[in-house]
Amino acid sequence: MLRADKALVDELDGLVVGRRTELELIVAALAAGRHVLLEGPPGTGKSTLLRAVARTVGTGFVFVEGNAELTPARLVGHFDPAQVVAEGYVAEAFVDGPLVAALRAGSLLYVEEINRVPEESLNVLITVMSEGELHVPRYGRVSAEPGFRLVAAMNPFDAVGTARISSAIYDRVCRVAMGYQGEDVEEGIVRREVAASGGGVADGLLARRAVRVVRGSRHHPDVRVGSSVRGAIDLVLVADQLAGLRAATATDPELGLDAALVALSGRLRLLEGCDRRPEDVVRDLWQAALAVEEALDAPDGDHGDGADGAAGGTGAPGKA
Ligand SMILES: Nc1ncnc2c1ncn2[C@@H]1O[C@H](COP(=O)(O)OP(=O)(O)OP(=O)(O)O)[C@@H](O)[C@H]1O
Ligand SMILES: [Mg+2]
Repeated sequence: MLRADKALVDELDGLVVGRRTELELIVAALAAGRHVLLEGPPGTGKSTLLRAVARTVGTGFVFVEGNAELTPARLVGHFDPAQVVAEGYVAEAFVDGPLVAALRAGSLLYVEEINRVPEESLNVLITVMSEGELHVPRYGRVSAEPGFRLVAAMNPFDAVGTARISSAIYDRVCRVAMGYQGEDVEEGIVRREVAASGGGVADGLLARRAVRVVRGSRHHPDVRVGSSVRGAIDLVLVADQLAGLRAATATDPELGLDAALVALSGRLRLLEGCDRRPEDVVRDLWQAALAVEEALDAPDGDHGDGADGAAGGTGAPGKA
C-alpha cells in the first residue's frame, strides 16, 4: 500500500531533475487515495514524473496511451469471440483490458494524453473513479483493489479534445500544474539527456546557450507556442554531431545557429498573421543569446539576463 514516505520522495528525486514539490504533491495525493492529473505544456516532464512514480511506488502500473483508438472495449477488455462461440459468455473467455487489469491488481492506471481518449471511454473512467468499481456487460462487477488509482497527463494546449475534459473529470482528480522549470534546472536536464544519449558531456556553454534560446522562444512577440526543453536537447545533440563533421567546436556560433535552425524552426508556432518565417525568429533568438553572453562577459556586465525576459539572476556572473 502506498504511503506518503519521505524516502520514497527522495528516491523519486533522484530520477528527475527538480520538481521536488510536484513529486511530494503526487505522492501525497496518491497516498490519500486520490486520482491525479498532471497538466502542463509539452515537454514539461509530465511523462517523466509519472514514469518515475509508476516505477517507484511498488503497486505496479498499467500504461495506456490516450488516442482515438482507445474504445471502451480496448480500455475495459472484451470477450474472445472464438471462445464465446465454443463456450458462451463464460468468465474465462474474457480478455482483460488495461482498466480491468489495473482494478484487479490494485495498480496505477497511467493514462497518457487523457484528453485524446474518446468520449465513451472517458465516461467509463469517470464511473470507475467515482464508484471504485466497474460493471462489465455479461461478465459482471469488477471492484477496485485498494491500490487502484488513475494517474493521467494532459497538455492544456493540445488541439485535440482538451475542451471535453470538463468538470466531470476535474471534479474527480487532484490536479498538479506543471509549468516550465527554471533556467538552471532546464540546463541540468539538457546535460543529463545529452549524456544519456551517448553524446558525451554536453559543453556547458552550449547547453546554457541552447536553454536561453528555447526560453526566449516562449516570450518572443511573434511566437504563439515556443519550444520546450526538448528543442534545447536536440540543438546540443545536433551541434555535437555537426562539430564532428566539420572538425569544428560545438560552441562555434555559426555551427550552433545551423543546429538551432534544424532543432527549432519546426517547433515554433508563430502567431496568426505574422509574416515572418520561424527561421527568422530562430536567428533573432540565437543572436539574443549570444548578446547575453557578451554582456555577461563584459567587465561591468551584470545586467544581461534579458534573453528570456525572466526576472532576476539568470546569469549571475559567478556561474558563467
Ligand atoms: N524534470 C525533469 N527531469 C528530467 N528530465 C526531464 C524533466 N523535464 C523534462 N525532461 C526531459 O525532457 C523531455 C520531455 O519530457 P516529458 O516527455 O516528460 O514531457 P511531457 O510533459 O510528458 O511532454 P508531452 O506533453 O509532450 O507529453 C524528456 O526528454 C525528459 O527526459
Ligand atoms: Mg508526455
